[in-house]
Amino acid sequence: MRSMKTDHVYEPAEDTFLLLRAALKEVRPADSVLEMGCGRGLISRELTSKARRVIATDINPHALRMARKMGIETVRADLFRGIKARFDLILFNPPYLPTGPQDKLEGWLNLAFNGGVSGRETINPFMEDLRDHLAPGGRALLLVSTLSGLIEIEEKAKNDGLEAMMVAREKYFFEELVVLRLRPAGGFL
Ligand SMILES: C[S@@+](CC[C@H](N)C(=O)[O-])C[C@H]1O[C@@H](n2cnc3c(N)ncnc32)[C@H](O)[C@@H]1O
Repeated sequence: MRSMKTDHVYEPAEDTFLLLRAALKEVRPADSVLEMGCGRGLISRELTSKARRVIATDINPHALRMARKMGIETVRADLFRGIKARFDLILFNPPYLPTGPQDKLEGWLNLAFNGGVSGRETINPFMEDLRDHLAPGGRALLLVSTLSGLIEIEEKAKNDGLEAMMVAREKYFFEELVVLRLRPAGGFL
């Protein structure tokens, strides 16, 4: 039997649950939802009964196998590459930890944590392509940490034509986790 390699997939943690709570407040029954970087699929599973459609993506094939086992519709994708559709709600708990060469983990799990030296190396390209994947009236919830530089993220969102609003936050010993609600600045013209 092929191994599921569960140790290569992110274990739901405080960030997962903070994003999940924000998503449950945000989602509407008519929404088509994309959860990017779904990991084990916990967030997508909770949303399937609350939205019209939920699609979960990840770059890690082991994560997708686990999510599919829970009955979630999955697509393997590197950020928005190959994704043509637009969504009403996009969710992402990205790798956001500043990570130098010496901090890298072995194998697929590295992709769950490694935000590059700035912590924003996955967050930045996500925001650059976000507008093109939101349906009219669409919005995104992005989980970030103060460790990855909130001011820089908000500045980048503005430069990418997005309005960012903090909708949830939780303090920990060494960081604060924040959920940003992103939508196109000036609406859909
Ligand atoms: C912090 S984990 C979050 C997992 C899950 N959503 C949760 O909240 O428990 C980040 C996830 O993003 C995925 N990921 C990292 N880089 C990605 C990329 N370029 N495209 C798609 N998924 C990516 C990782 O494989 C990992 O499953």
